[in-house]
Amino acid sequence: MSDLPASAPTLFTWEFASDPYPAYAWLREHAPVHRTTLPSGVEAWLVTRYADARQALADTRLSKNPLHHSDDAQGRSKVGIPGERSANLMTHLLNIDPPDHTRLRRLVSKAFTPRRVAEFAPRVQQLTDRLIDDFAARGTADLIHEFAFPLPIYAICDLLGVPAEDQDDFRDWAGMMIRHDLPGGKRTPRGGVARAVKRMRGYLAELIHRKREELGASEQDDDLISGLIRASDHGEHLTENEAAAMAFILLFAGFETTVNLIGNGAYALLREPAQRARFQDAVARDDQEWLSGAVEELLRFDGPVEIATWRFATEPITLGGQRIAAGDPVLVVLAAADRDPERFRRPDVLDLSRADNQHLGYGHGIHYCLGAPLARLEGRTALATLLRRLPDLRLAADPDDLRWRGGLIMRGLRTLPVEFTARP
Ligand code: HEM
Repeated sequence: MSDLPASAPTLFTWEFASDPYPAYAWLREHAPVHRTTLPSGVEAWLVTRYADARQALADTRLSKNPLHHSDDAQGRSKVGIPGERSANLMTHLLNIDPPDHTRLRRLVSKAFTPRRVAEFAPRVQQLTDRLIDDFAARGTADLIHEFAFPLPIYAICDLLGVPAEDQDDFRDWAGMMIRHDLPGGKRTPRGGVARAVKRMRGYLAELIHRKREELGASEQDDDLISGLIRASDHGEHLTENEAAAMAFILLFAGFETTVNLIGNGAYALLREPAQRARFQDAVARDDQEWLSGAVEELLRFDGPVEIATWRFATEPITLGGQRIAAGDPVLVVLAAADRDPERFRRPDVLDLSRADNQHLGYGHGIHYCLGAPLARLEGRTALATLLRRLPDLRLAADPDDLRWRGGLIMRGLRTLPVEFTARP
């Protein structure tokens, strides 16, 4: 690679956020398991090689429970999702280990089987078309605010069983939770994330309560929250707190990730005309199998989850030749692993027909993404419909002017202005 930094790169600056890949290439080569101080002040190990990353994701000596963090209570409060601690939402899948993890994951996994998700396909198609209808006649759009952002939130609301009249509130809280530039250019103020999480927590408690009462009258509702309540009522040992934490993590894990899959995916296609032409040919042929493979490559090439969520060593371990002390936080850099030349041929090239593409974009091991079948459905439907309905879609901004959001875990654009021939 020509633009490999000559010396240790500075991480987590705005410049790094816009293109972290050269810095990751340097780390993979010179410091594959690298101790760094994060912007929050927390010290953590970054794992950047594919083989080490895969091993770490499956290593049972790396716990997901923040109580294993050796730092004091103040340090602990800096890891995890902002606001989850104060809103009493800690007991979710990404913070727990077996046997609790096994029990809770079993309860929700039936909602995410490929068959259940396929039943959801007409609804995702309808949402996608409705969003495109709203801007198709204008000839311009911001694909993040008007398309990538609302689609997953409405899909998850439907899945959870949030009534239609409450979904716009949900959309606003979700926007604040990811520090999104809100429509109209406002950014979430300091403390706004925790406040939004708290409001959503209050809403979920009320919704769970309401659904529990309604369920008495009818056993028919098959949304996810009703399913969780029914499971707990039938002796599956699910507390109200666990049910709320589950709804919360489904929203949190399933929302910004999918926004970024659609945003990063559309951006990559718009920047690579030859690959985009192949994608459009497959859309015209309705070749769903090829399109599914193409979406996997978009995930590998510039995936939504740049760094997997926190892990903590429960005992001293050696990873990639590096000694890691008990209690140390370990962050697996999926974006670096998925560009490792030891694993992928020409890793910095987008090749939508790539075979042998076992990327780590959905993680690996027992915390492998529960929502992957839904994410795949949403990503494929959104990108294919967009390019079918707006075939001359093009970027309406200089790529150098586009800003990326600067969070630690996720990678996604703030805005994606596009133009196309208006279709009244
Ligand atoms: C876990 C990626 C969409 C629900 C994960 C993990 C990754 C990931 C990397 C593992 C994190 C770790 O081990 O630290 C993605 C990507 C998505 C996506 C790239 C979109 C393109 C979704 C959706 C849902 C979802 C749509 C549900 C509605 C979850 C849940 C977990 C998870 C519940 C935790 C699983 C566990 O701990 O057992 N996801 N995700 N994700 N994801 Fe996704």
